[in-house]
Amino acid sequence: MVADRHYEFAVLRGDGVGDEVVREGLRVLEAVSVMDGFRYRTTEFPFGAEHYLRTGETMSEKAITEMGDFDAILLGAIGDPRIEVGMLERAIIAGLRFGLDLYINLRPVKLYHADLTPLKNKGPADVDMVFVRENTEDLYVGIHGFFKKGTEDEVAIQEMVMTRKGVERAVRYAYELAVKRDRKRSLMLVDKANALRGQDIWTRVFAIVGAEYPTIEQQHAYIDAACMWLLKNPEWFDVAVVPNMFGDIITDLGAAVQGGLGIAASGNIHPGKAGMFEPIHGSAPKHAGRNVICPMATIAAVQMMLDYAGETAAARRLDAAIASVLGSGRVTDLSTSSGIPTPRFTDWVLEELRAHASEGF
Ligand code: IPM
Ligand code: MN
Repeated sequence: MVADRHYEFAVLRGDGVGDEVVREGLRVLEAVSVMDGFRYRTTEFPFGAEHYLRTGETMSEKAITEMGDFDAILLGAIGDPRIEVGMLERAIIAGLRFGLDLYINLRPVKLYHADLTPLKNKGPADVDMVFVRENTEDLYVGIHGFFKKGTEDEVAIQEMVMTRKGVERAVRYAYELAVKRDRKRSLMLVDKANALRGQDIWTRVFAIVGAEYPTIEQQHAYIDAACMWLLKNPEWFDVAVVPNMFGDIITDLGAAVQGGLGIAASGNIHPGKAGMFEPIHGSAPKHAGRNVICPMATIAAVQMMLDYAGETAAARRLDAAIASVLGSGRVTDLSTSSGIPTPRFTDWVLEELRAHASEGF
């Protein structure tokens, strides 16, 4: 509830490194709540590999509905090599995205220090964009099948589904975001409508909705070219709206440009309703328990979660603290080989928050 500044957060640590990164995210949440004077309660949900192996349950309808009533959900990571590929991811991540109709997957790409990007001659001013990934349609709807499975004549299909309503609400959200950011006041549609003619629905809806936003410049790029430009000219990007599958791929590229999956956060939202916040990275089972995973992506997910819940001042302060830590140049590597133990990143963020508390940042 925004009115009394008390929030109910559902927490799903999940698998692999999920527990380690969520632990750090919750340390930051606790510190920020004390400094900013809001209250919250967390409720843990057990879903993930261990729970499945123990009970045979991947996720439940009831839990999805329950989680939808929280102010937001914080998710660590899902996936375990002991379990059939994609089974947990589909039940839990896609289960929440589809079950709660979280139709926007918001993925900011921001460079905090030139040393963090693999690109030459690009600095923080060149890399500051947000991908609006459509999150409930496209190849992800799960309509697939096999014919003559396992034989030499096998046929496999996976359908790309796009609806007028689904495309329109994503496009509209992206235009609104371009207005709200007020940065370049441009919106780029990324698709592959030249080869996949069905995606012409994106072209048309983009133009129709765009007529309501005459001050926002409309840009267009095919996904292959967009990938190239993201590396060559990241400064061309501000807000981009992307169908689900291409959005999945290009945001990993975006993460690499900003310094790696260690910093890339994501918000799955249904504006005005539920929101689920998570690092983009997966469960990285081989790194679990080694104290080497960078928790900044989860800390940034907590930042997005606070913003979404309505704690905008707290979110701004946390954003500034993250920028201070990463912009200072003392972190030159966000990967698992940085040599920086997981909780150290959090310590630095907390130091920055405290150091600047009196300056109102
Ligand atoms: C992501 C992930 C998921 C996706 C997987 C785990 C199903 O890669 O959040 O980007 O493809 O959406
Ligand atoms: Mn992905």
